[in-house]
Parts: sequence; structure tokens; C-alpha cells
Amino acid sequence: MHDIQQARHIPVALNRCIDLLAPAIEKAIELRGVAVIIDATLGLGGHTRALLERFPQATVIGFDRDLDAIEIARKNVAPFGERLTIVHRVYDQIPEVLAERGIEMIDGALFDLGVSSMQLDVADRGFAYSQDAPLDMRMDQSQGLTAKEILFSYDRNSLIHILRAYGDEKFAPRIADNIIAARDSNQLESTKQLADLVKESIPAPARRTGGNPAKRTFQALRIEVNQELATLESAIPAAMEALVPGGRIVVMAYQSLEDKIVKNFFTKACTSTTPRGLPVELPNTAAKFSYVITGSESATEVEIEENPRAQSMRLRAIERVAA
Ligand SMILES: C[S@@+](CC[C@H](N)C(=O)[O-])C[C@H]1O[C@@H](n2cnc3c(N)ncnc32)[C@H](O)[C@@H]1O
Repeated sequence: MHDIQQARHIPVALNRCIDLLAPAIEKAIELRGVAVIIDATLGLGGHTRALLERFPQATVIGFDRDLDAIEIARKNVAPFGERLTIVHRVYDQIPEVLAERGIEMIDGALFDLGVSSMQLDVADRGFAYSQDAPLDMRMDQSQGLTAKEILFSYDRNSLIHILRAYGDEKFAPRIADNIIAARDSNQLESTKQLADLVKESIPAPARRTGGNPAKRTFQALRIEVNQELATLESAIPAAMEALVPGGRIVVMAYQSLEDKIVKNFFTKACTSTTPRGLPVELPNTAAKFSYVITGSESATEVEIEENPRAQSMRLRAIERVAA
């Protein structure tokens, strides 16, 4: 375990997320006396706590793959007892977790994607290029390949692929070559060594724009280490499928690759499958979902000033309208 006692995380768009889920929760409580919500990214429990406070008849199943986060969340939400079930699982296992608990349908789902401030702040997790630490970057430190294991075992083409696909890195071949040279001479042990290597791989004029040059490489590695896009690709449709009619799903994404995945699923689900140009909608082709937010929303200026993490956030929400 790490030194997580002082760990903090300011929940992003807290009231807005709860307001977006509220009609689904109120409807469920009116119909069945309870509401079941999935918090797919429990983190330190900020959103879940607010939800349980506002709706005394709501219960939450909170997923997190990070044991440090779970330890803190347990303390933060202890007063709510059995109304919260915490599961140490990846959120692509939503169907399995619901089946294990005999839950057929849910009333709402919240995804607050990416890493928490706690994960970035605890230096030895290896997420931050600004702090020197071992190259780990696993959200779940109990399993999977570390960033170092990936850097040492992937061939040149695979390294170039992840840097390009997940980091949009123009200088991927130079960085990959330098990674291979550094690992061959055992000069690649820490986040600082990697950040310096990336900086040296990028020509000086290109270094002057776009912030820290290591940012793209760190993002790419983190996505690969945690298989972030693949898990999201299966979790979003699974959560949508589990919703009752009237149920809602709310997602906050902080980088464009994740937001694009969410946008594509939501657009498809909110669009009739009747071929364009037909004068009437064919039977069984009506969209099963409708937009609660048309397009996406950003955080407010005030929030961004208080919490810089909110800057890149894109919020999307849809409601299930048919079984
Ligand atoms: C941005 S934080 C959530 C913060 C939370 N909403 C709060 O208010 O405290 C994201 C959390 O989701 C977890 N996480 C990210 N991807 C995950 C996945 N695929 N499965 C389970 N948990 C995941 C991370 O470990 C992190 O704790």
C-alpha cells in the first residue's frame, strides 16, 4: 500500500452528474421503491457519496480496479453501509457482476473516466511525468504488465503503433528507437528517464509547442498498460444494455479517444435504423435511446478555475426510451 492518507480528488461536475441521473432514480423509486445505480469508476467515492446522500432509497454498485482508491472510498462512504457494494473489478465486467448478484436491470450508470488525482499525486504509481518513480502505471497493481515490462518487451513496430494510435505522437519512430537503445543499455528504469528520453527524441522546434513533450508518450503507455480503450468499448454497450427503460447513462471523458468511443455508441443508439430517405419509420427500427444532452457539455469556467482537471472533460448522457 502507498501513502494515500492525504489523497484528495475533487469530483468533476458533481451536481450536474447527479441532476442528470435524478429523473431515472426518482422514476425507479416511484415504481419500485428502490433505485440501483452503477458507479463504474468509484475512485474516492465523491459522486457515489453525493448520490447516496441525495437519494436515501438508492443503492450503488461501485467498481474500481484500484485497491488504493477502494480503501479510501470505503472510509468516505462508510456511513451508507449496505447501500453501497464495492467491487474490485474492471468495469468491462458489469454483466458478470450483475449476474453474480442476481440483478437483472439497473436504473443508472455513471462513468468518470481516466485516472484520479490520487493516482497522479501518489508519486510511486508512475503515472506522472513530472515526478520520478518506477515505470508502473497500472491502475490495478495486483495484475497485468507494468509500463516497464511493455517498454522492455514490445518490438519496434508495436511501440510505434501504441505511440501513434494512443498518443498521436508524430515522432513515434525516433522515440521507439531511443527506447530500444535505452533498454539495451539498462537506462530505462524510471519515469524521469523516460520523460528525458522523449524530450531528447523530439526536435527542438517541435518541443516549444504543445506543453510537455512527454505527455503524449505517457498517455499512450497508460492506455496500453490498462487497456483503457478496449475495456471502455465493451463496458459502455454492456451498461446501456442493462438499463431499464427510463434509465440513464452519464459519461465524463477527459481525452478525445475515449470521448469518441462514447460518442459513437451514443449516436448509434439514438438513431433509428430505418434507411435514410424512407418517408415512414419501419417497424422495430426506432432508436432505443434518446439524448439527454445533445452533443456534449464541458465544465463551467468557474469549475475549471477551481479544478484544472475539469478543463478537458466532455460530458455526455442518454436515456433508454424503449426495451
Ligand atoms: C476519475 S476517477 C473517479 C473519481 C470519482 N468519480 C470520485 O468522485 O471520487 C476514475 C477511477 O476509475 C478507476 N478506473 C479507471 N478505469 C477503470 C476500469 N476500466 N475499471 C474499473 N475502474 C477503473 C480508476 O482506478 C479511478 O479510481
